[in-house]
Amino acid sequence: MSKSTNVVWHEQSITKEDRREQNGHNSFVLWFTGLSGSGKSTLANAIAARLFNENVRNYVLDGDNIRHGLNKDLGFSEADRTENIRRIGEVSKLFVDAGQVVLTAFISPFQADRKLVRDLLAEKEFIEVYVKCPIDTCEERDPKGLYQKARQGIIKDFTGISSPYEEPENPEIVIETNNNTIEESVEQVIAYLKENNLI
Ligand code: PPS
Repeated sequence: MSKSTNVVWHEQSITKEDRREQNGHNSFVLWFTGLSGSGKSTLANAIAARLFNENVRNYVLDGDNIRHGLNKDLGFSEADRTENIRRIGEVSKLFVDAGQVVLTAFISPFQADRKLVRDLLAEKEFIEVYVKCPIDTCEERDPKGLYQKARQGIIKDFTGISSPYEEPENPEIVIETNNNTIEESVEQVIAYLKENNLI
């Protein structure tokens, strides 16, 4: 429930459309969702570099990093994950308003939370990218040793082991990171953006 009363929205003199025009491209969110170790951050960063080289203004918001600052008060209970995604949704909306492409790399395991972010934005401003990878492969990769700790019960509520992951039902893009190289996956996303006149 909102505690902000007696606040009035101010329109800015420079609009989102002005900023897009100056940048020469659209602004939108590429929302990467998937299990820990599926490749969300790797992919988001590789695409960000590619966009940067094409003069597309962009910024990556990443789960591990955001949880060091803005969301350091949040853990991994269902309620905290929901609040994590809600805040990121609001921040993403500000980036879109600022004329930027924002790439978010959060597990975002709950369908309803992702839908909430989609509904915050206009059509074509939210592109859900399902970074699909079998849990066995994620567990084999285990880049941070977290699956091992989850199996040992040292980490509670671990996604895919002791906390659910709800697969996207209608994502705009599905990337199978166990079947494609990073370069191929980057090309797949860039092709989608170009085909849809987003960049
Ligand atoms: S969520 O579910 O969207 O709120 O999670 P997110 O903000 O993306 O944070 C996921 C990263 O936190 C680390 N970590 C955990 N992940 C899942 N479950 C538990 N219990 C957990 N504890 C710590 C982990 O490094 C995740 O990063 P990625 O990049 O996904 O591996």
